[in-house]
Amino acid sequence: MSLIPRLDDTALFGLLAEHGDSFYVLDTGGYEQNLRELQALFAARYGRIGIGHSYKTNYIPQLCRAAYGLGAYAEVVSRMEFDMALRFGADPRRIIVNGPVKDDGLLRDALAAGSIVHIDGIEEGRRAWRILADGGAAKGRIGLRLNLPMEGRTRSRFGIGVEDPELHELLGAFRGLAACTVEGIHCHIGGDRTAASYAERTERMAAAAKELFPDAPPRYVDIGGGLAGRMPEALQQQLGYRVPSMADYAQAIAGTFARRFDASTGPELIVEPGIAVLSDALWFVCQVAAVKRIAGKHHAIVTGSIYNVKPTLHGFDLAFGAVPRDASLGEAAEWAVSGYTCMEIDVLHRGWNGKLATGDLLVFSNAGAYTVVLKPPFIKPMPAIVEVLPDGSTATVKIAEEVGDILRTYRW
Ligand SMILES: Cc1ncc(COP(=O)(O)O)c(C=O)c1O
Repeated sequence: MSLIPRLDDTALFGLLAEHGDSFYVLDTGGYEQNLRELQALFAARYGRIGIGHSYKTNYIPQLCRAAYGLGAYAEVVSRMEFDMALRFGADPRRIIVNGPVKDDGLLRDALAAGSIVHIDGIEEGRRAWRILADGGAAKGRIGLRLNLPMEGRTRSRFGIGVEDPELHELLGAFRGLAACTVEGIHCHIGGDRTAASYAERTERMAAAAKELFPDAPPRYVDIGGGLAGRMPEALQQQLGYRVPSMADYAQAIAGTFARRFDASTGPELIVEPGIAVLSDALWFVCQVAAVKRIAGKHHAIVTGSIYNVKPTLHGFDLAFGAVPRDASLGEAAEWAVSGYTCMEIDVLHRGWNGKLATGDLLVFSNAGAYTVVLKPPFIKPMPAIVEVLPDGSTATVKIAEEVGDILRTYRW
C-alpha cells in the first residue's frame, strides 16, 4: 500500500526529480472529507453547526477555498490572514476575526465589511465601540471572546474574564449602539484535547450564553479549536492520553450543547478545528542524504528538517514511512533521523527501527498543521507543495522558493 493515497513509489521519485530534494503533498479531498465527517457527526447531535477554517493552521489557498466552498467560515487572526481570506474570495460576512492584537485599521475594515469581530479584551472592545459610535459600520457584528476558568488549569491571557464586571459594562455599551449587534460568544482553550475538557468548556459556554443573553439566545456560540485529529499509533502512544475520535468530540461538544439548547431555536454551534482536520491532509517527503555511524549509533541525515515537519518544536518523534531507492541496499538498525540544519536539536525521529540507505525517501504523515505556515527560511527555503488529485495526477500548488524569493524584500 502506498504511503500517500494515489501516489505510488515511482510517482514519489518522479516528484522528487521534478521539485528538488524535498516537497509537500497536499490532499484537498482528504481535508474536505474531514470537514464533512465533522459536520455530519456534530449535526447528528445538534442540528446547527458551523465550522471555521483556521488560517493560522494552514493557509494553502486550495484548503481555504475548499473549506469556504463547503460553507465554512474563514477564521483569521491578523490583517494578513484577513486580506488572504478576501483574496481567496471569502464573503466578508463569513469571516471571523479573532486574535489578541487588532489595530484600529483592522477593526474598522472588518466591522465595515460585515465580518464578525471577536473582541479579545476590554480595551480592544472600547476601541471597537468608538469606531462603531463614530459611524464606522452600518451594523457592526461583534462577538466576545471569553476567558473561562477550567478545572485544574492555569488561566490563559486570551479573552475577557467571565467574572470581570467590565464584561457586562462592555456588553451593555455595545447593546446601546444602534450600529452594532452582539452576535455571540467565543472561546479557544489550548493545551487540553481530552473529550472531558470539551464537555466542560461547552457546558460553561452554554451557561455563559444563557447569562449574557437572558432574553433570547445569541446567534452563535463558538467553542474554538484545539481538538486532536487522526494520527498513527506510533504518534498516539507518545501523547500520554487517549486521543478522542471525532465522534467522541461530537458527543462532548454537540451532545452537551444539545442538552442546553434546542437546535431549531438555539444558537449556531461553531467549532474552529485546525490540527484535527488539517493535520492528515499533508505529507512531507524528503530523502536520506547520508548515513553514518558514530560510536555505534546509526544516523540518517535527511534533506528535510524539524522546520518542515514540526516547526512548533514539540518533542514528539514524528511518524514516517520509508521508500527504498534500492531495497537491497538498506541497513536494518535503530536510526536517529536528523535534518539538514546545523543544529543539534534538528532531530526528526530519535529512534526509528527499520532499513535505510542513502537515497531512500522518507514520507512524514500528519504534516498539515502549523508546518507550511511556520517554516522559516532558515538555511534552506520553503520546498514545493504538490497536490494529489482524485485521479492520481498531481498539480503544483506552490513552487519551491529560491534565493531570490528570500532576498526580494531586502535593500542593498
Ligand atoms: C482562536 C483559535 N481558533 C482555532 C485555533 C486552531 O487550533 P488547533 O489547530 O489547535 O485546532 C486556534 C489556534 O491557536 C486559535 O487560536
